[in-house]
Parts: sequence; structure tokens; C-alpha cells
Amino acid sequence: MKICSAPGKIYFFGEHAVVYGENAVACAIDLRTKVKVEVQSSEAFKIEILSNYKAESYPYVVKAVEKINEIKKISNKIKVEIKSQIPAEAHLGSSAAVTVATLAALNSEFKLGLNLEEIAKLGHEVEYEVQGAASPTDTYVSTFGGIVAIPERKRFSAIDVGMVIGDSGKSSSTKEMIARVRSLNLEYPEIAKGIIKTIGSISKAGLQYLEKADFQAVGRLMDINQGLLEALGVSTEQLSAMCNAARKAGAYGAKLTGAGGGGCMIAICSRARVQDIISAISILGCKAVETRATNEGVLIE
Ligand code: MEV
Repeated sequence: MKICSAPGKIYFFGEHAVVYGENAVACAIDLRTKVKVEVQSSEAFKIEILSNYKAESYPYVVKAVEKINEIKKISNKIKVEIKSQIPAEAHLGSSAAVTVATLAALNSEFKLGLNLEEIAKLGHEVEYEVQGAASPTDTYVSTFGGIVAIPERKRFSAIDVGMVIGDSGKSSSTKEMIARVRSLNLEYPEIAKGIIKTIGSISKAGLQYLEKADFQAVGRLMDINQGLLEALGVSTEQLSAMCNAARKAGAYGAKLTGAGGGGCMIAICSRARVQDIISAISILGCKAVETRATNEGVLIE
């Protein structure tokens, strides 16, 4: 029996622009998914999944077992138990976390000797095959942890700042949100391209301020990034309202994270302000939780 866990992630900067080759900055967070894998030696091959988590995670687990099966034939029943703190379909990397933790637990159980690069690569293949489209960002960040600059995949240590996630409770399809930006880009190429390029510049500048721990400047750039995501049509009234409420309650800055159209926003603030920001978001009827950046990627528990 083996247990592994892997983190979810947020984008400080650059979602959507990254699809067009621009820079982005993602960060692992301390909400994790734990996966326990047990081989039932007396029974024939079959996958049994138990979960506190939405059934949407099951195809990722099944595909991860299939991938491992291509490396080493599994002939016994595999019991997989999932416990996740990451809300599903909220653009916090929940599918990447369950995929990476499952692959790592199977890797350990069957002593395959896959390294982290190989787990991240297999994880991306699983997401790609289940979803039909996926960037390698989520599985990479979930495997390695820390702050990751895209596309270089350069890693930086997690920062020490207050962070609050606001969850709209609405799910949305990443594919549809990418298509929305693509159609804007087709209709108004000069304008959309300018916005996308500016988001890339924000990511580059934002990374420097993150390295200097200048959170006032990071927050200002997150606010500008949010304005540009609104211009691209991927924010929602609720996401924008949560960002405004967080700013009014003293956040350095706030923006949606991930594909938008629902899902979550992220605010950064001084530790002293965390509870104020949670209250301000909760008043809007949305769920808010404190989170922290983490250097811990996938782990054997
Ligand atoms: C989704 O979490 C982020 C997007 O940039 C898509 C991607 O990078 O795969 C919208």
C-alpha cells in the first residue's frame, strides 16, 4: 500500500496569454489531494475507486493506471482511495493533482523508478488524453511545487504572503473559455493580440517583483492582469465582485485564476488582513479559504 499527495495551483499571472506563447507565473498551493493505492493480491485486474471527490476525477485515475500498465503489466485488483482538499472543476488544478498523486503512488507501489520529470510528463499525457487539450503547466507545478515561470519552467521558492482563494461555486469549461478568447482574437486581432502581449509583459515584471517580495507591486500587477482578463471576456460578475471586495478589504491585489467563466479568484494580502478578506468575500455568498504557496510538490506520505 502506498499513499502520495500532490498540490493544486493558482496563476499569479498569465493564464490564457500562455496559450499564445506568452509568459505566465503559476504557484503550487497548500490544498492537496491524497491518493492511496492498494494491490489486492487475491483478485484479478480491476480498478476500484473510492473518493470524497467528484466522479469527474475517475477518468484521470483510470487513465493513470492504464499508463502505468503500459510500463508494467498490472494483473491484480487496484484499490484507489482519493481524499481531496481541492475543489473540483474550480480551475485550481484538481485533475492534475489527482493524476500526479495516482501516478506517484503507482510508481512507488510497483517500484518503477520513474523520476519527477517522467511523472510530470506522464501526468500531462493523462490530462491531454482525458480532456482532449491541456497545457503541461498544471501537472508540472503539481509535481514539482514552488513558483514556476512558464514557458521556461524555472522554479522559484514559495513566497511568504497572505493568500485567499474565493470560489464562485460555478464550474466552467477550460476548452470553452479558450475558444472565447480565440474568437475575440479572430474578430479583433490587433486589439486582442495587444492585450495578450501586455499580459505576457505583466508576467515578466510580476516575476521580478515576486522575487523581490515586493507584494504591493505584485498586487498592482495582479489588478491590471484582472482588468485585461475582463477585457478578454473571461471574468464573470461574481469573480470581479470578489476581486473588488478583496481589494476594499485591504488586499494588495486580486484576480481570477485559471480559465475563468466561473471557478476561483486569488487575492494576496498581509497575513493580518486574511480574515478581513475572507469575511468580505463570504458576505457576497461565496466560499473563501486561506491558502499558502508551497514548495512541496508530489510527496510520498
Ligand atoms: C487554465 O488553467 C489556464 C489556461 O491558460 C489554459 C492552459 O494554460 O492550459 C486558460
